[in-house]
Amino acid sequence: MKCRICGQKAVVNMRQHKLALCKDHYLEWIPEQTERFIEKYKMFTREEKVLVAVSGGKDSLSLWDILQRLGVQADGLYICLGIDGPMSPTGEGLSYSSESQRLTEKFADERSLKLHIVDVQKEYGATIPQFALKSHRGRGKPCSVCGLVKRHVMNRIARDFGYDVLATGHNLDDEAAVLFGNTLTWAGEYLLRQGPVLPGTPGLARKVKPLCRIYEREMLAYALLRGIEYIYDECPFSVGSTSIYYKQLLNRLESDRPGAKQSFYLSFLEARKSGLFAEREEIQAELHLCPKCGQPTSAPGLCSFCRMMSR
Ligand code: AMP
Ligand code: FES
Ligand code: ZN
Ligand code: ZN
Repeated sequence: MKCRICGQKAVVNMRQHKLALCKDHYLEWIPEQTERFIEKYKMFTREEKVLVAVSGGKDSLSLWDILQRLGVQADGLYICLGIDGPMSPTGEGLSYSSESQRLTEKFADERSLKLHIVDVQKEYGATIPQFALKSHRGRGKPCSVCGLVKRHVMNRIARDFGYDVLATGHNLDDEAAVLFGNTLTWAGEYLLRQGPVLPGTPGLARKVKPLCRIYEREMLAYALLRGIEYIYDECPFSVGSTSIYYKQLLNRLESDRPGAKQSFYLSFLEARKSGLFAEREEIQAELHLCPKCGQPTSAPGLCSFCRMMSR
């Protein structure tokens, strides 16, 4: 297999794009694609202040690397969830959060990038697994509480430090899996909000996903070829999760029909643009601001984060 651009030996073959590239051209191609999507979906302008949420995984660290290469001045945010040691489902000795923090700090230090670190236990009094044990959400499984806390912290840091945009490392596989889950239940409210850009409101930064059209496999190849040191392990609580199951199902589909995953996601975006959810949009629930933290919520009174904290 030869690189389509220079004819040298290709190292990545993307059947879904009918494209094979050598290492050098691949490392150029991914940032070019990312830039194309940032512009296409009007994610942000050069004047805006960007905050990247970095977990220490391949996607978010690569995203930070790519933004830097594109000349976008972006700061990072790492949220230490306290998923370490004996609280973890697999027992002693595990260090998911501390290892991902170490790799994120190393990445930032080596490139002299600014990194905000929020330690959930220090700031809110408990680690994610401890919160999960106390909360009725997810019956002791921390993923739902974790999502709630991460969202809250990301919004808060973006607001307190005046960032216009919050970028996350969600890739196409993440987005297709979420879409698949929401489609199985026709979760209209979620389908309406899922996309490359979630517009901001006063006090709430716009959320963008610059990698949402890049396959997980392509991001993996990028991180490896670029020599980015990232945490290989998934969060220990994600073992057996529905989203991993949906990803496996979609991968089976993709291997029989290259491009199916991308087409599933893009056709959804297209269908929505042409009015599939038009009626829904009109009757969308009004959001108001939580009286405690000031973030938007559809619940009457306190938002779900503040309700959890007050319990
Ligand atoms: P996940 O929900 O783990 O699939 O992560 C999706 C995206 O959320 C990542 O690509 C990051 O941008 C962001 N993210 C996840 N975990 C963290 C964390 N601990 N700190 C900061 N950002 C995170
Ligand atoms: Fe939050 Fe796994 S429970 S990352
Ligand atoms: Zn080449
Ligand atoms: Zn609140």
